[in-house]
Amino acid sequence: MTVQTSLDTIRERALAELGTAADLATARDWERRFLGAKGELTAFLRGLGALPAEERPAAGRAANTLKQELSAAYAARETALAAADLDRRLAEDAVDVTLPGRQPAVGSTHPVTQMIAELSDIFALMGFQTVFGPEVETAHYNFDLLNIPSDHPARDVWDTFVLDTDEAEIVLRTHTSPMQARTMEQRQPPVRVVVPGRCYRYEAQDASHEWMFHQLEGLAVDERITMADLKGVLRELARQLFGPERRVRFRCDFFPFVEPGVDFAVDCAICGGKGCRVCKQTGWLEMGGAGMVHPKVLQGVGYDPERYTGFAFGLGVERMLMMRDGVGDVRAFAGNDLRFLRQFARAQV
Ligand code: DAH
Repeated sequence: MTVQTSLDTIRERALAELGTAADLATARDWERRFLGAKGELTAFLRGLGALPAEERPAAGRAANTLKQELSAAYAARETALAAADLDRRLAEDAVDVTLPGRQPAVGSTHPVTQMIAELSDIFALMGFQTVFGPEVETAHYNFDLLNIPSDHPARDVWDTFVLDTDEAEIVLRTHTSPMQARTMEQRQPPVRVVVPGRCYRYEAQDASHEWMFHQLEGLAVDERITMADLKGVLRELARQLFGPERRVRFRCDFFPFVEPGVDFAVDCAICGGKGCRVCKQTGWLEMGGAGMVHPKVLQGVGYDPERYTGFAFGLGVERMLMMRDGVGDVRAFAGNDLRFLRQFARAQV
């Protein structure tokens, strides 16, 4: 076989293989096999020494010409493949900027937060300002100034979380009523506030008892405030929350910080007062406690009980939701089950 013939076969095979190299890796492998240090053409050039001296120059030239041709073919192929590779990666990475964005999961306010906002709005229209108080209280505000004596069962460690007994007795507030005294200490009549917030009791949990729950306290103090004002305000609340046909009921009850004290109820909107599962067949739903502020409470904050009178009330916020929306178990509110909470989801404003 002449030198030219073997170069021609190498050339033919090399160009055919390069033509079929579909990606950069195959092309690089091709370069290694034909043009690399151990490649076929290099081996051929090394073998030239075995030729007779007069044939060597021509064979060397022919081999170098082929080497240049193959190198040029490789460079062209490599450039084309690299461009194709870039195109492919760009196509893979492409983002369709005209597609709508992914909707992020947007939360909603908690039903208790919604109810507090609703109650605040209703009372704002009746002239009540919403104020907030501390959840960690002294026994002085939580009990003493509310005319709750130290032997009262509500002060028992069994239903109160006591945080510190060293100097002042520090407790988690058991109701929002301590804000009555705090508010009156800070301002002079006329006073009209509502106080929403968390309360805590050391309590065994069941469908109607939680160790953490929310109340909304109300307090109005001025000259000539009477029980008629209290009844009017709570009647309006019931109608706003549960509908214009609602009737309210007041019955005598005892709370140390009011005299007289009442519990108040609204006729059940679900059965219209006939009796159903939600009102436990009584036709009435109990909304909370209320009464005329006790003279001792007024005295305790330096108000003159001869001049000023007032009313106070306390609502259970979860209780309002349970009554209005037919929630059977108070534990659902802090249970963090999204299936429950989503039923109250509202668009955010
Ligand atoms: N603080 C009372 C409780 O937690 C509720 C209450 C009753 C509040 C009568 C009042 C009231 O303001 O006048 O049981």
